Amino acid sequence: MQILHVVGARPNFMKLAPVRAALAAHGKVHQTIVHTGQHYDVSMSDVFFQQLQIPEPDHNLGVGSASHAQQAAEIMLRLEPIILKGKPDLLLVYGDVNSTVAAALVCAKLLIPIGHVEAGLRSFDRTMPEEINRILTDRLADYLFTPSMDGNENLIHEGVPPEKIHLVGNVMIDTLIRLLPHAGTPKLLEELSLAGYPYVLVTLHRPSNVDDRAELRRILLTLNEIAGEIPILFPVHPRTRQVMRALEFANFSPHLHLVDPVGYLEFLGLQRKATLVITDSGGIQEETTYLGIPCLTVRENTERPITVQLGSNILVGRDMDRLKIEVEAILSGKGKTGTVPPLWDGKAGQRIADILVSGA
Ligand code: UD1
Ligand code: UDP
Repeated sequence: MQILHVVGARPNFMKLAPVRAALAAHGKVHQTIVHTGQHYDVSMSDVFFQQLQIPEPDHNLGVGSASHAQQAAEIMLRLEPIILKGKPDLLLVYGDVNSTVAAALVCAKLLIPIGHVEAGLRSFDRTMPEEINRILTDRLADYLFTPSMDGNENLIHEGVPPEKIHLVGNVMIDTLIRLLPHAGTPKLLEELSLAGYPYVLVTLHRPSNVDDRAELRRILLTLNEIAGEIPILFPVHPRTRQVMRALEFANFSPHLHLVDPVGYLEFLGLQRKATLVITDSGGIQEETTYLGIPCLTVRENTERPITVQLGSNILVGRDMDRLKIEVEAILSGKGKTGTVPPLWDGKAGQRIADILVSGA
């Protein structure tokens, strides 16, 4: 059986690693990896292949950054000849990024069966580009691997035949469980004299928070205020950095530390030791839930409601007063720790491999 994995952006790599490893253990599968090049900085791509022990991609399409239409079109154009030549038996795609939907569309037209890892998640907010990617990829997929029961419910509600839907658990948590023992105290904490002290970890990259200068400024001013109380460590996504460059600030708190994106092991080490996390990332809502670290999500909705229902996540919307109130609550010991959702147990990749190989 020939399986082609297509990945392209940072959160894809943590999801690919356990599925690829579990399929390799079966021995009956020949695997090829295509990297679209959607993310290309060393700190957004190469570092994850090294730390997660994923083999070098067989092909890198080198598409880089562009508008949604251009990026997806380039991926499709450059991927099609590889599919025609390699004739895989199955395409596996991950999550909700442009690389995911573009690869699914190419393979659907060539009648190559498609497996979608992390299917069924819905924010019900089509202003998010990812929501469109999720809906389309799920419509095209033959195997829909869901991380939690809400995914199954959404897909059934949309009319997906139940036999296509497989509740397997969360592959991102597989990677976390495997690598947590290797995530020590990141050097960065020592360099900033934060080791052993309380701090807040922040990431922000949703277009709705960072693309508009005034909006990003409003959030940064709030973070600056919070940094007056507890130091903040903020590894800045390149999308956010780009907009930040155009903002001018005076009187930034010396306790608001803006740094480049960090590697997976370092970020895991930073999450584990954080007093709380402020984010708009999908994956980080899940990782903090597994780690039991209070998470404040700066978004009006989430495609991962289970992290709010069972986990440590609170949606604060984009209301900065609410954000400050929730930070205060956590600092006064009222943080939410939650529980780990069912099947977030380190074996999701194995379940996917078993389904694919037994169905082969
Ligand atoms: C993408 C995904 C988003 C995911 C995020 C993870 C889509 C529609 N969005 O958003 O769902 O949460 O990745 O991080 O697929 N850039 C660099 N270097 C890089 C990559 C990007 O400088 O290696 C800069 C470029 O200026 C680029 C911008 O970041 O224009 C945005 O990159 P892009 O891949 O289009 O979207 P993300 O915001 O990263
Ligand atoms: N992450 C990382 N370094 C960072 C920020 C995040 O390794 O500086 C990891 C994080 O632990 C998680 C993943 O990147 O595994 C989440 O990716 P991201 O937030 O870019 O995308 P999303 O999940 O929102 O699609």
